[in-house]
Amino acid sequence: TRRITVRDIAAAKDRGEKWPMLTAYDAMTASVFDEAGIPVLLVGDSMGNCHLGYDSTVPVTMEEMTLLSAAVVRGTKRALIVGDLPFGSYQEGATQALRSATRLVKEAGVGAVKLEGGERSAEQIDLLVRSGIPVMAHVGLTPQSVNAYGGYPVQGRGEEAAAQLLRDAKAVQDAGAFAVVLELVPAELSAEVTRTLHIPTVGIGAGPDCDAQVLVWTDMAGMTSGRLPRFVKQYAALRETLGGAARAFAEDVTAGAYPAEEHSFH
Ligand code: KIV
Ligand code: NA
Repeated sequence: TRRITVRDIAAAKDRGEKWPMLTAYDAMTASVFDEAGIPVLLVGDSMGNCHLGYDSTVPVTMEEMTLLSAAVVRGTKRALIVGDLPFGSYQEGATQALRSATRLVKEAGVGAVKLEGGERSAEQIDLLVRSGIPVMAHVGLTPQSVNAYGGYPVQGRGEEAAAQLLRDAKAVQDAGAFAVVLELVPAELSAEVTRTLHIPTVGIGAGPDCDAQVLVWTDMAGMTSGRLPRFVKQYAALRETLGGAARAFAEDVTAGAYPAEEHSFH
C-alpha cells in the first residue's frame, strides 16, 4: 500500500467523489482511522482544545505540532497526513511559513500542511507550494483569530461577507492550495464556492455540498465533554464507554475481583 497523495485528492474532485477527513493527535487513534479507510487525517491545532487542555488553538506551539504529527505519521500507512501550522508560525510572512512548514515535513513527515486565511495568506501559500509543500487552506471561520472575533461566529453572512469569502477561496486556489477548508459558512455559499473552484472544498459546519467533510474526531466519536456545536454528528459515545470501563476496573480492584487466577503468575 502506498500513501494517498494530493494527486489522488485532485482526481477525486474530477470524478465527483466525496471524501471524509478526521483529525488525529496520536499514533493509536490515527491507526484506527487509517485502518477504517479515512483517506486524509489532519493533525489539527484543535489538539490545543481536545488533547493539550488549552481553551483555544492559540497557545499551540511548533514543538507540540511536530511531536504529535510525527506520532500520527508513525501510526499510519495509507492516509495523507496534513499538519496544521500553529498560530504565530506563519503570520510574519512567507519565509517564516516556509521555515515552519519545512520543519513539519522534515521532522514529522507530514505530506501537506494547513494554514488559516484567504487573501491574507496567499503569499505564504504561494511560496510553500513553489517549494514543493502541498498546502490545504482554511477560510471562513479561522479559530486562531478567536480573540479578534470575540467568539466563533458563522462567517460569510450578508452580501459583502459572502463576496469576501469567495475572493478568499479563489485567492488560495490561485496561490496553489490543493484543497480549502470552509468552516462555519452558510450552506448556499459553500455550494457556490464548491461549484466555482476546481480544488476540493472540505466543509465543517458548511453544509452538504462541499467535496469533503471534516470533523474533530473527539466530537465525532462522543469523547468531548459538554455541549457540541450544532454541525457535529456524534457517531459513538466513547466518553460513556471509556468511563464505564474505568468504573468497572475500579470496582473490580476495590472488591478484590481483579486480578483473578487467570491473570496471575505462579
Ligand atoms: O484544527 C482543526 O481541527 C481544524 C479542522 C476543524 C478543520 O482546523
Ligand atoms: Na486548525
